[in-house]
Amino acid sequence: PIPLIIDTDTAQDDCVALLAGLLDPAADLRAITMVAGNVGFGRQVHNAFLTLNVAGRLGEVPVHAGCRRPLVRPWVGAENVHGDGAGGLTVDHTGHAPDPEHAVDALVRMAAERPGELSIVAIGPLTNIAAAVAKDPAFPGNVKALYVMGGSNNGRGNITAAAEFNFYVDPEAAKAVFAAGFAVTVVPWDPLTLRDAVFGPSLLAEIAAVGTPLADFFTRVCAATLEFDRSVGIDGTTHPDSLTTAVLLHPGLVRRSGAYHVDIETAGELTRGYSAMSWGVHGLPANATVIEEVDPGGFADYIRGLLSTPATPN
Ligand code: BDR
Ligand code: CA
Repeated sequence: PIPLIIDTDTAQDDCVALLAGLLDPAADLRAITMVAGNVGFGRQVHNAFLTLNVAGRLGEVPVHAGCRRPLVRPWVGAENVHGDGAGGLTVDHTGHAPDPEHAVDALVRMAAERPGELSIVAIGPLTNIAAAVAKDPAFPGNVKALYVMGGSNNGRGNITAAAEFNFYVDPEAAKAVFAAGFAVTVVPWDPLTLRDAVFGPSLLAEIAAVGTPLADFFTRVCAATLEFDRSVGIDGTTHPDSLTTAVLLHPGLVRRSGAYHVDIETAGELTRGYSAMSWGVHGLPANATVIEEVDPGGFADYIRGLLSTPATPN
């Protein structure tokens, strides 16, 4: 199994990504680190414990609280999209508090303990990852692979016309991460997610019919986002975070990817957080692999399979 940490702003598809890390035998999830993003910080932590519980793994994987705001800007959330991020579900996780070690310390320590072995899936704003680079410049070299959900590959943004949420919230962090020398792979919002990782009505009905506690959890956790997505013309739920985790664990899902130079706009009047993904024609050196196309049916089968797991909530 692949040793990994998932760095997350746990709401909706972040929960599904955690299920992949917790239930897929190809994953050896060592820690969950939390970063300010989608919903209030305390609620995100709660949603992580909720997900551990439904996977039957409460107490087995540490949860480390990390940066509570972006590097230099005020926090921006997406509660209008995600509600509380978990469809109103709650869990009593008394006795399972977050680990006292800060997420940034945990990231740096765990990477240094096993140089070249640990992978990181970063599915929220990149604040913790950038702070880890500042804390330990050897951190990028100690990480085997960094998989990032963020940006768009010359496509649409989802929080502004130009920007995808994770890069918009902390553009300075994203810029620093792409300059830091990680072996980084990017899963962009558009066109990739909007073409290959939207679960439409028939697939959602199939998942609802699976009938396991995990499938019920999925349906409930994705409900608010489904409503939002429909209101903006997307006929299904969107799964960028679980797709990012899936392509790390199962690279055979990737049909096409390219070597790109990726940089992030921090100063633009209308383009804060825009991801410039340059594919070589501009003469810039590649610093990232960008996923361009995945197998949509293979990804849907993967998630449906995960949700069919007969896990018993703790
Ligand atoms: C990203 O932003 C969040 O709303 C989702 O969790 C995902 O990580 C998509 O832009
Ligand atoms: Ca996320």
